[in-house]
Amino acid sequence: MAALRLQKVLARAGVASRRAAEDLIKAGRVRVDGQVVTELGTKVDPRSRHIEVDGRRIVRETAVYVALHKPRGVVSTMSDPEGRPSVRELLADVPGRVYPVGRLDFNTSGVLVVTNDGDFAEGLMHPRQGVPKTYVVKLLGIMKDEDVDEWRHGIQLEDGKTGPAKVKLLRYEGGKTWLELTLTEGRNQQVRRMGDATRFRVMRLARTSFAGITSEGLAPGRWRYLTVDELTALKKEHGVPRRIVSPPMPAAPPRARSAPMPHAKPRPGGRESVGVGGRQRPAHVEKSRAPYGRRSQGQLSSRRGDVLVEHDVVRQHVGKRKRPPRA
Ligand code: URA
Repeated sequence: MAALRLQKVLARAGVASRRAAEDLIKAGRVRVDGQVVTELGTKVDPRSRHIEVDGRRIVRETAVYVALHKPRGVVSTMSDPEGRPSVRELLADVPGRVYPVGRLDFNTSGVLVVTNDGDFAEGLMHPRQGVPKTYVVKLLGIMKDEDVDEWRHGIQLEDGKTGPAKVKLLRYEGGKTWLELTLTEGRNQQVRRMGDATRFRVMRLARTSFAGITSEGLAPGRWRYLTVDELTALKKEHGVPRRIVSPPMPAAPPRARSAPMPHAKPRPGGRESVGVGGRQRPAHVEKSRAPYGRRSQGQLSSRRGDVLVEHDVVRQHVGKRKRPPRA
């Protein structure tokens, strides 16, 4: 193997995304053959060099690709300086040093793609890729056609005008507007800021799709491996992952289309299988270890209800557009 840039070696080993790996190098946390390396361009051959991060030798892991249904009230990073619940607890059973591709706000629910493949994460996060992300949004206020058009064409934010967006008006409900919104940008808190800038405060936000990957059939807090079909589609569309790997086989025989229901009790430590999207191969569904104790278990189930309602709203109201109530 030819020598590669150190940050790329770290990313490929699943230590972190390439950008985060650069931060580790700059912070002096990376050693090559015992010497701290802080130079970002440094090239190394990972087969012949002893590379450590924080004193632990890195070895290349089998690539893992997962979809997590992130609940509200959980940070989408692997740790939180404020001590809030993080996706780390939800991903405790995922093999490998995985981390999320991009972010969702603490109060945003929905699909989060998770991996230990730095090239994959980098590929999907690169602005050039314009990866589509679809959200269901509940906004305070009644949006008129011209307001919806403004969202379609772009909203002026402090970091520039947003790009064109696909916007579908789903329904009105007691002075609130429900939209389905597809963005190809990944700016920080973009939807909430679009709401604030147009005086329609975002009251609820759920991501229903990321690069075509959905969390349909996954209860909040649960994860599954991406299927070979999904990985193949991602590679075709976005060039990653480089190599398609089959997800690990389930320990128990799959139960066909046993998507967990909001009230269903998980099998202790068990794996389940669901058919995703009807025409795809089965994906494995893992119940994340409950990190929250009894009180939070209750909170999770109420969030679970919220999110299913949001998915249901999309199913029920796409194409059934209601006129705004008369003023
Ligand atoms: N836009 C937001 O405002 N928040 C998210 O979590 C995702 C997109």
